[in-house]
Amino acid sequence: MADMMWAGRFSKQVDAGVNAFNSSIAFDGRMYRHDIQGSIAHATMLGDCGIITKEDSLEIIAGLKEILADIDSGKLELDPNAEDIHMFVEAELTKRLGDVGKRLHTSRSRNDQVAVDLRLYLRDEIAQIQELVVELIKTLIGMAKEHTETIMPGYTHLQRAQPITFAHHLMAYVWMLLRDIERLQDTAKRMNYCPLGSGALAGTTYKTNRKQTSDLLGFTAPMANSLDGVSDRDYCVELNCALSLLMTHLSRFSEEIILWCSWEFKFVELDDAFATGSSIMPQKKNPDVTELIRGKTGRVNGDLMTLLTMMKGLPLAYNKDMQEDKEAIFDAVDNVKLCVKTFTPMLSTMRVLKDNMRNAAAKGFINATDCADYLVKKGMPFRDAYKITGTLVAKCIEKGLTLETLPIEEYKAMTDTFDNDVYEAISLDTCVRERKSEGGPSPEAVKEQIALAETRLGELLA
Ligand code: ARG
Repeated sequence: MADMMWAGRFSKQVDAGVNAFNSSIAFDGRMYRHDIQGSIAHATMLGDCGIITKEDSLEIIAGLKEILADIDSGKLELDPNAEDIHMFVEAELTKRLGDVGKRLHTSRSRNDQVAVDLRLYLRDEIAQIQELVVELIKTLIGMAKEHTETIMPGYTHLQRAQPITFAHHLMAYVWMLLRDIERLQDTAKRMNYCPLGSGALAGTTYKTNRKQTSDLLGFTAPMANSLDGVSDRDYCVELNCALSLLMTHLSRFSEEIILWCSWEFKFVELDDAFATGSSIMPQKKNPDVTELIRGKTGRVNGDLMTLLTMMKGLPLAYNKDMQEDKEAIFDAVDNVKLCVKTFTPMLSTMRVLKDNMRNAAAKGFINATDCADYLVKKGMPFRDAYKITGTLVAKCIEKGLTLETLPIEEYKAMTDTFDNDVYEAISLDTCVRERKSEGGPSPEAVKEQIALAETRLGELLA
């Protein structure tokens, strides 16, 4: 009884089941560094403002640093029975320093403490995720540079549509990932305001210096409203949104790789180190990594729903419901890091089967638009040219031919506008080479696109 933090008000021990139910140290224990970092800033400010003595402040700071070192080294283990990481650190400090330790929590509440801890923790996580995404982008750009001439079919409705290059396809993902980085940076920027000093909800009567703690912890400024300071979890939702989109991109890419690995496509072959076999079918080589990424996208989206639903009915200010924020956002962050970390080396070791891509591009009449465009460039209205080409495609299908192998007589039978130069106009190489509109797949246009992406990445990292 004596060691309960709120022993004064209560005449009974908390029920053991309730204690376990209430406790969050199993998942918020991972924030111990950030909790101690926040407490050191708070203790510094208390000393500087004369709220506690300079000596006590220094002793508290030294004690906190020792606790940090001891947890880091494994000498001090987190107590699974503590209510949360905040209570644990404070209790440990008091165990070590006696009465001096009890002064740390002056003018502070766990409500502003947990809010500052989580912001500090997620700021570090965002930096790590950004680094991983940058590495993925660089890997993709490197691959794109090698494949500006690798022709493959581009698809709509998963039907072969028009010819593109593998580089062009890869670069589409680079732009998505660049936007992901931008979103992460935006989130980090908006999140970087300091709730410390909001107290439980209504600030404090002590003459604190909130700017000092905010500066010490590297925040842009203190949060302007103490109620908002303790009850805002927008940054968790926002970060989870950014992560859900990032996962969506990885998941779409994964889905394509799963297709490309199949015998039906055979555009790529995963390195043996990044595929798995079957327990019964000896011939199998399964793209488990990409399937797991696709699957984990669902759980990251689930985390977002958890956060949004948890927050939607909460009155101001703090409510214990908010303790549920951490498992959700930690799960999202952990899984995103795992996915990106595994995806990048899987891509860079993957074998690209250029011939199969090209063979697929040579079937499926993906040069039909170019055939119509050939007539248009000779003066025919597009709709007429479209109709004639459609008839020719039907004829090819009937005869088991392609537009490249259909005899010139068949062309001329449709219109005199066709000449022998049609074969050059509809060759795959011409079709790709000539698609040099800005953002298009021609090797020339893609090289410009790569340079643009590299500039953008440089700006984002500046
Ligand atoms: N473990 C709590 C959480 O994660 C810390 C804040 C507790 N505040 C309170 N008034 N019970 O939200």
